[in-house]
Amino acid sequence: MRQAITNGEQHLRPVLDDAQFAQYVAIGLAVREAFRTPALRDMFIARLKPHRKLIIGSVPAGIQQHGMLPARAPMRSLDDIADAELAQWLVDDGRLIYGEFTQQELDNYFAAMAPMLPAQGHFIDLGSGLGKVVMHAALALPGMRCTGVELLGYRHDMAQARLAGVLAAGEAEDAALAAQVGARVRLLRQDMFEADVSDASLVFIYSTCFAPLMDRLGDKLARELPLGALVSTTTFPLQHPGFELVQQFAPPSVAWTTVFLYRRRGAFDTLPPATASYIYEQDGAAWEEAVCAAFAAHDALQGG
Ligand SMILES: C[S@@+](CC[C@H](N)C(=O)[O-])C[C@H]1O[C@@H](n2cnc3c(N)ncnc32)[C@H](O)[C@@H]1O
Repeated sequence: MRQAITNGEQHLRPVLDDAQFAQYVAIGLAVREAFRTPALRDMFIARLKPHRKLIIGSVPAGIQQHGMLPARAPMRSLDDIADAELAQWLVDDGRLIYGEFTQQELDNYFAAMAPMLPAQGHFIDLGSGLGKVVMHAALALPGMRCTGVELLGYRHDMAQARLAGVLAAGEAEDAALAAQVGARVRLLRQDMFEADVSDASLVFIYSTCFAPLMDRLGDKLARELPLGALVSTTTFPLQHPGFELVQQFAPPSVAWTTVFLYRRRGAFDTLPPATASYIYEQDGAAWEEAVCAAFAAHDALQGG
């Protein structure tokens, strides 16, 4: 069954062109136009620079070659887009990025987590993508229920297809195990901020692209998780007083990036009000330099 959990990282990204993404596409096309057009690049920098803490890397992923925007020309111009709309667009853009741990990284991860978990707990992956972690969890943590929560419909559909493939492969290898895994895995299409985590034993978040969401996630999890529940994040820490750091796995001990493990602690009536401070901000000059290098790389690609 393990072998059937493959190929998610390289999955074909669709062009986003349905009604659900109309606003994302309209703003994205305007941002991309400003990136590509030399006369608009000062505006690109002026408009995006104040929001650079929301950008994963230097240039938003959606306007790059591998982005999911359609090829057509924009109907709106970047200077007609309000600042708040632009900021929300950058948050949405970060959420659309995809990445998965390798099988080896997941083996490392579950080997480290298993001794700290109850035999019959509940594992939840918030932002579960194509479901690789959830399916691995079901194999690595034999008594636990395993839930994946994914916002994007096409990724949720691919996760369901992947699960069906894994269970079909399992039927031939070990039908009892396949049936047991099938009964313990649940894939939900849902916004993680709406997910029920009230009985979770371990929440996994591949948070490498979630810098702007970390405070909101910390707040939700502190209010809704049972005391003692574990949360792991990647790349970005969960800086919230409702959590204590249990362990920090430096790369490459578990994965290519740092994995942080926290435990929910402290009384619920002492939680602070929701905060809105961001933990990640790039130096302005370094960001601008990286963007100018990206302009040059784009032009070189066009010219040659
Ligand atoms: C970096 S991928 C990780 C996928 C999976 N957890 C793994 O490690 O293989 C992050 C996933 O979170 C999803 N996502 C982003 N924002 C979300 C939200 N508000 N609710 C649920 N899923 C979300 C993205 O669509 C993406 O599939």
